[in-house]
Amino acid sequence: MKQNLIFAVILLAILSMTNAISLHKRKTEFSNCGGPALDVTAMTPDPIQAGKNVTFNISGNFSEHPITSDYRQYIVFAQGYEYYSEFSQAICSDSISSDIPKCPVTDYNTTMIIQATANLPDSYLITVYIWNGNYGSDWLSCTHASVGE
Ligand SMILES: *[C@@H]1O[C@H](CO)[C@@H](O)[C@H](O)[C@H]1NC(C)=O
Ligand SMILES: *[C@@H]1O[C@H](CO)[C@@H](O)[C@H](O)[C@H]1NC(C)=O
Ligand SMILES: *[C@@H]1O[C@H](CO)[C@@H](O)[C@H](O)[C@H]1NC(C)=O
Ligand SMILES: *[C@@H]1O[C@H](CO)[C@@H](O)[C@H](O)[C@H]1NC(C)=O
Repeated sequence: MKQNLIFAVILLAILSMTNAISLHKRKTEFSNCGGPALDVTAMTPDPIQAGKNVTFNISGNFSEHPITSDYRQYIVFAQGYEYYSEFSQAICSDSISSDIPKCPVTDYNTTMIIQATANLPDSYLITVYIWNGNYGSDWLSCTHASVGE
């Protein structure tokens, strides 16, 4: 949890350096927040409904940074220090018998289904990122969107 908080602070610092986010967008618009481009090609439903499942279609070209088994796909919902909800799933496996792709992955295209918490606030930041859990990591792929502000 402490690591998550530190990471959230780093992300907020990055966010504050970017331009102001347009208000009242109908469709949730994601923008890069670091590393190789990671695209949320669909988020269904949009807007997300508290307590309901959400399907994220995520893709990216990682030919320059092949994804290895120590990296995971994360989706975090946060509102300052008031609200924090994190989901993650494996991207690839070193084992051939696994039902997920064999590592390394360069042409990344996945679907991640998560269930939004019942207490999802009206406004929050969604951060979708690939990370190996290592602060010393040489790359991190990140995209984020602001909802309801
Ligand atoms: C998202 O991915 C799922 C599974 O591959 C697919 O069935 C669905 O059509 C995709 N949604 C969109 C909007 O592309
Ligand atoms: C990924 O990017 C590389 C160059 O960075 C390019 O050569 C390759 O064709 C791209 N792959 C796809 C599937 O777009
Ligand atoms: C990802 O996979 C889906 C289903 O296989 C396909 O419709 C979609 O075009 C793919 N997207 C990319 C960016 O490769
Ligand atoms: C929501 O997603 C979970 C898996 O993340 C699945 O087990 C559950 O059946 C889904 N619920 C609905 C209503 O689709």
